[in-house]
Amino acid sequence: MTIQPDTETTTPDQLAQQLAELLGRPTTTHGLARALRAAEKELELHRTHLASQKAWPDGRIDGAPHKVQIGGGGHQIDGFFNIDVVQPADLLWDVREGIPLHDGSVDELFSEHFLEHVDYPRSAKYYALEAHRVLAPGGRLITGVPDAAFVLSQYPEGAADSAEMIKKWYGKRDCLDHINTHLDLINYVFRDQDDDPTYHPHYWAYDYNKLVQLFTEAGFAKVEPWDFDPQLANPKRQWGSVYVTATK
Ligand SMILES: C[S@@+](CC[C@H](N)C(=O)[O-])C[C@H]1O[C@@H](n2cnc3c(N)ncnc32)[C@H](O)[C@@H]1O
Repeated sequence: MTIQPDTETTTPDQLAQQLAELLGRPTTTHGLARALRAAEKELELHRTHLASQKAWPDGRIDGAPHKVQIGGGGHQIDGFFNIDVVQPADLLWDVREGIPLHDGSVDELFSEHFLEHVDYPRSAKYYALEAHRVLAPGGRLITGVPDAAFVLSQYPEGAADSAEMIKKWYGKRDCLDHINTHLDLINYVFRDQDDDPTYHPHYWAYDYNKLVQLFTEAGFAKVEPWDFDPQLANPKRQWGSVYVTATK
């Protein structure tokens, strides 16, 4: 039997059009609209990633930057090569697909408030393995995330300055009015899922012990606390975050 080529296959562009059309219908229910917006966002990331992958089909860029930031968003660090899936970045790349750098080529790899935005275990563990692969022997992976242990330790009252920090963290978000108690803040650390599709959700919560376990499992020789350095880290992240250095 001859298999006919599938001329009906939907392309990502066609699918994006269909999603937009469905989203525009007044009859589309809230639950479906949320799912469609999430799919729209993933389609956009998929298209962005494929466009970069065309230039680097083997998943390795030509250059070999020694200092690299992952998921820096608007917080670009001088002297670092910035990889993110959205602008501004030196390279647009979906790191869930791997880190597009050569083995043993990086001295310092930095990320903050990025890891909790990728699914666990698949993408988080793959990221840890990829970080270990691209680092040179003795190279350092610095990672900062919202500190789940800190927000839990403040339950039920919350820290004295938590209302102010909630405003700093979520001031520009449509969810701000709905973070009313300390438990709401805990919820956001664990499962940030704004209806606004600009934001990437939180998929997993971390504390110091979890970071140590994750990076030790990936092969790092030593994982220890990192002293917050505002030359590198985003000053607005200091409160309520935990940072570690994992050395290869
Ligand atoms: C909450 S922002 C943190 C930005 C910055 N690090 C800071 O602390 O202000 C999370 C960043 O991770 C990036 N990101 C999320 N998922 C990603 C992925 N799969 N690949 C690359 N970057 C990703 C987002 O685009 C965003 O810039």
